[in-house]
Amino acid sequence: MKEIGNTGAELVGIIGAGTMGRGIAQIAATAGHPVLLVDLDQGVLDAAHSSLERILNRQVEKGRMSKEAVGGILGRISYDTGMNGLREAGLVIEAVVENSSVKENIFSALEGVVSKQCWLATNTSSLSVTALAASCKHPERFLGLHFFNPAPLMPLVEVVPALQSQDELASSAFELMSAWGKKPAMAGDSPGFIVNRVARPFYGEAIRIMEEGVADHVTIDWAMTALGGFRMGPFTLMDLIGNDVNYAVTESVWAAFHHDPRYRPSFSQKRNVDAGYLGRKSGRGWYDYSDGAVQLKPREDKDLGQDILWRILVMLINEAADALFWGVADAEGIDRAMQGGVNYPQGLLAWADKVGIDRCIKKLDEMYALYGEDRYRCSPMLRKMAQQRGTFRPDLAAV
Ligand code: NAI
Repeated sequence: MKEIGNTGAELVGIIGAGTMGRGIAQIAATAGHPVLLVDLDQGVLDAAHSSLERILNRQVEKGRMSKEAVGGILGRISYDTGMNGLREAGLVIEAVVENSSVKENIFSALEGVVSKQCWLATNTSSLSVTALAASCKHPERFLGLHFFNPAPLMPLVEVVPALQSQDELASSAFELMSAWGKKPAMAGDSPGFIVNRVARPFYGEAIRIMEEGVADHVTIDWAMTALGGFRMGPFTLMDLIGNDVNYAVTESVWAAFHHDPRYRPSFSQKRNVDAGYLGRKSGRGWYDYSDGAVQLKPREDKDLGQDILWRILVMLINEAADALFWGVADAEGIDRAMQGGVNYPQGLLAWADKVGIDRCIKKLDEMYALYGEDRYRCSPMLRKMAQQRGTFRPDLAAV
């Protein structure tokens, strides 16, 4: 496998110039690589070009970057509707629609163009990296590089080796992502990798609390932000992501886990999607974004707020502990992923140590007894840690 990333001189190809592809192109060009951004649609390429110019020129106006530096970055990015310019590429990252047959066709076409040494990566959020690698003639050079939106701003990249990946590929890719200024986390190829798996209860449990009539969405958002320190409440975030997109991720994680009830999507969100209440982009989601819409006020009751925060937090901690149990990542990687990919105010496992692992188990067991649903089953990892009187993040205690 040839080295890439040391000199910044190797060509990086990006397939798909949509939301993610153009952001990844900006990152690679900023790190010094010549970049070829490929999309079927010339209109999308033109839009990507003007959006990158606009974003980077704003950095000059704000005094954050020099005109020369921005000129250099923009000058390193070329645009094409075909892949032939990728012959010399050292790495190609695919960021097209989340559809396995479209992606497989791209990789098989790419393998006819690039050299055997070129690394191939997918930015998929929910498909199996191993299954995509299996469609390649040389799956040993294939892996997942999962960036987060907006890619230039979010520090996390999940580095996901396929079962077939050559041994040192993931660690070399990890180093490359670090050299690109990212804070990568190594993740196992299991549904949702780290973030899209561990974050499910942030949305699902919030909706559940609302469905049970414990509190309305505005109050839940208030509790999570004002008391929990989350940058955005779950309902505001779902409206930003789009209820259609958020629902599709939940559904795909649920299906990939063979319909484990823990990840079951909610009827309320499905109804929003059916009604076209997708969120900000459609003018209405959980909230109404139309001009003059009445802004609901949260019920700022501290006890209620703490109950809401505690219930959602314990579910998130349980999910993080379970990801650790199944070897999706190590404790430090899981915590870094949730902070770097979705801006959580603290790592969830560090949070568990702080609030007390026994307390988390007690809350989960209470909910399990009350509802009798598998959704609330406590991860064996929490019980193991409690039995050993251990902590998830002894590395933090030592600091
Ligand atoms: P997008 O819809 O904004 O862009 C996809 C682009 O791929 C479109 O411009 C389309 O013209 C192009 N395309 C489709 N087929 C093509 C082909 N055969 N050859 C070349 N270009 C082709 O999609 P987005 O949101 O950027 O997502 C891309 C990938 O990144 C998906 O796998 C998605 O799951 C993943 N992802 C998306 C995130 C997000 O927040 N949008 C976050 C992290 C990962």
